[in-house]
Amino acid sequence: MEYCIETNNLTKAFGEKVAVVHLNIQVEQGSFYGFLGPNGAGKSTTIKMLTGILGPTAGDARILGYRMDRQPLKVKQRIGVVPEQLSLFENLNAQEYLMFIGRMYKMPKPVIQRRSEELLALLGLADTGNTLTLEFSHGMKKKLSLAGALIHDPDLLFLDEPFEGIDAIASRTIRTVLEQFVARGSTIFITSHILEIVERLCSHVGIISQGSLVQQGTLAEVTRGGRLEEAFVNALGDAETAQSTGLSWLGGGVA
Ligand SMILES: Nc1ncnc2c1ncn2[C@@H]1O[C@H](COP(=O)(O)OP(=O)(O)O)[C@@H](O)[C@H]1O
Ligand SMILES: [Mg+2]
Repeated sequence: MEYCIETNNLTKAFGEKVAVVHLNIQVEQGSFYGFLGPNGAGKSTTIKMLTGILGPTAGDARILGYRMDRQPLKVKQRIGVVPEQLSLFENLNAQEYLMFIGRMYKMPKPVIQRRSEELLALLGLADTGNTLTLEFSHGMKKKLSLAGALIHDPDLLFLDEPFEGIDAIASRTIRTVLEQFVARGSTIFITSHILEIVERLCSHVGIISQGSLVQQGTLAEVTRGGRLEEAFVNALGDAETAQSTGLSWLGGGVA
């Protein structure tokens, strides 16, 4: 089977620090894959390698049938990315930003214009007019970044913590767009530590801890009928979740 994303012992070290180690994940086309793990587990580093922002120290990744190290442009033309650290050009308004991104993909101007209007309306940014993105709220920035990741109609979307710091309304809007994207057969790879959202959206889950994959499967396989939070805590084992019974001065003790 040809996977949409397939990694082969993908590894990244920053000097002595090994952030991702021998990662082997498989993501089927049309799936909504949630990549979970505690802070510092290696999620962002993985996304950066899968999207060609960082080169691996060892191993490789196949994205949409292309080796990322051999044909990065082929991959980059067909993927969309919402990175953790947004990089919107701050002195552009929303329209100008999308025009800039669209031109980068060599799209014809009328197509960019049409899609921009639709995207901005859908994401509730239509009336931002000449407001520069530097004045946007955090939620507006995330939504514009998502619009920029969708404008060239990618087959595969990468989102690093898209719901981080987002209010309920913006979160709902983003969820609706993502659900629509997957419903028509495209694929999403998302990192999030908001397990309720992952549980609601994702068809497949991978759990990473200290750079290593500890679990992967369909949501049903991973949760086995229970809650994702339970599966997550169990998968991480004792090292990550050293239990404490509470604060001594609140009547608990440290186990
Ligand atoms: N550029 C870097 N230089 C050194 N260490 C890094 C760098 N980027 C990430 N790390 C380290 O790699 C580990 C994984 O980081 P990251 O992938 O950002 O985790 P996550 O996204 O799961 O929170 C962390 O220990 C982090 O401190
Ligand atoms: Mg991260």
